[in-house]
Amino acid sequence: MVTLDKILQSQGFGSRKECRALIAGGYVMVGGLPATEHDRAYETAGLEFTVDGEDWLYREKLYLALNKPVDIECSRKPSYHPSVLTLFPDQFMARDLQPVGRLDHDTTGLLLLSDDGAFIHAQSSPKRHVPKVYRATTARPVSAELVAALKAGVQLHDEPAPLAALYCEALGENRLEIVLEQGKYHQVKRMLAAAGNHCEALTRVAIGGLRLDELDLAPGDWMYLEERHLALLAPA
Ligand code: URA
Repeated sequence: MVTLDKILQSQGFGSRKECRALIAGGYVMVGGLPATEHDRAYETAGLEFTVDGEDWLYREKLYLALNKPVDIECSRKPSYHPSVLTLFPDQFMARDLQPVGRLDHDTTGLLLLSDDGAFIHAQSSPKRHVPKVYRATTARPVSAELVAALKAGVQLHDEPAPLAALYCEALGENRLEIVLEQGKYHQVKRMLAAAGNHCEALTRVAIGGLRLDELDLAPGDWMYLEERHLALLAPA
């Protein structure tokens, strides 16, 4: 059981003082009734509450999936385009929501975000080997040699050893699917360049067994990930 002011603070509604002011001001409802006592304790699991007319479900940690649109940067302090965090409620920023890894500003598709440091760390760890599936549009036709080179491994300038795709196949004249288990800077673009082609457009369609097309998210839309989704992120 946790007091209402602490609950609101944990969910990103401001300092304890600010949360108490929200409660005293009659902005908060729990179970459909006005909740005006900041020191009343509630069971947090499954707690539904309303702040200023907006409905919320208590979540100890945030696990989100976004269908990232183009011209959005994954950095908290972006240089040229809006930060990905502007696509989420302000409360999530207050909870220190962060992207799990990064996609380039012009890469679209599946991006995970969380405020759970252990989860972010585990997902980003190279030791975890969670495959990431990308679809690329290439400037020049996808030849059998290109696919073979990406599977065999290509040498990038600042890498000690060649990097190979876990899987790669042509999807059309100028389209390919490539699966990587590392997450090096601009990795797909640099691997395509090193193999003699050029990436014109890139989208991430899956992370582990979590597929974007099964989440039904339009570009710019996001959703909460539940246990069944998180289970799909485990390495095979
Ligand atoms: N590889 C890239 O080149 N860019 C991305 O955004 C992701 C993988």
